[in-house]
Amino acid sequence: MNERHLYPFPVSVNEAVEHLNNGAVVAMPTETVYGLAGAAFNDDAVLKIFKTKGRPKFNPLIVHCADMGMAQSIADFSPLAHELAAAFWPGPMTLVLPKKQSAKISDLVTAGLETVAIRLPKHPLARELLLKFAQPVAAPSANPSGKLSPTSAQHVIEGFKNTVPVVDGGACEAGVESTILAVLDNRIVLLRPGSISAEMVTAATGLVVELPQSNKVVAPGMLKSHYAPNASVRLNVTKPSGEEAFLGFGTIAGVGASSRNLSPSSDLAEAAKNLFQYLRELDATGAPTIAVAPIPNEGIGIAINDRLTRAAADRAL
Ligand code: TXA
Ligand code: MG
Repeated sequence: MNERHLYPFPVSVNEAVEHLNNGAVVAMPTETVYGLAGAAFNDDAVLKIFKTKGRPKFNPLIVHCADMGMAQSIADFSPLAHELAAAFWPGPMTLVLPKKQSAKISDLVTAGLETVAIRLPKHPLARELLLKFAQPVAAPSANPSGKLSPTSAQHVIEGFKNTVPVVDGGACEAGVESTILAVLDNRIVLLRPGSISAEMVTAATGLVVELPQSNKVVAPGMLKSHYAPNASVRLNVTKPSGEEAFLGFGTIAGVGASSRNLSPSSDLAEAAKNLFQYLRELDATGAPTIAVAPIPNEGIGIAINDRLTRAAADRAL
């Protein structure tokens, strides 16, 4: 690799903590995607996150915590929220909960909302960073707003043109962003599907998971067009046309340099892990369109189809 990095690459967790202490932003691996981290209590650091991503300020950030003590200093946990935390944390789940009056986090993080999104990641380097920094860290996905999420350190370097220090944790295990759940009294609303499926949430709590259409709670960041490669995206394709790159799944696969198969064995977890990497690789072929095979809409396939639908959405603003 002959690219010039403005920061030494990679930076250690200790160096990353120093950057956070200085009010700078730093990219950290999590088990879902890489996050662009800044001290959640520091207005300037949080502003840098929005600026670096080009993210609209109405779109709130997820606060990453080392442990339940830290999480409970920020949000009120109902018995149901405790149940979910016990079942899935640390892990790829984000809870939207009432923000505590006394929470020491910048209002920019929550975009002025009375709720706050919290997550305890399980990636060992994210955990080490959070334990050493010992303060909550705001972190959206470490990609320019609207683009494909980063599942490797190299994706972050490319996305921000080497301007952000990166802790390298290798390829992300889950590959799609965390499942976001809003917890309201005794109800759970799925704001963003992820690798923890609605069925898993129901199995852990005995409650049916509601969809956001049925009430007013939404994740402001769930824009119709998102996660977009440069190429246009065409879904549910079994036979691509000559000029299209092809993203296959299972037995529906293409041949040649402009084809990838998300999972030859039809394993949805493997497909999620490969999703953003393969979209990037096919985008790099310069094909005008990426055609995508049908993906079963079950389990983590629901999260994959959610991201693909947004990647395929009309981008006219
Ligand atoms: O896996 C992940 O969740 C990654 C890693 C880095 O943790 N983060 C991530 O962040 O995907 P981001 O900013 O790309 O997506 C966060 C989503 C946005 O759609 C945002 O609108 C929503 O969470 N969100 C944040 N705070 C919220 C709140 N108080 N109420 C509703 N939605 C909220
Ligand atoms: Mg994102």
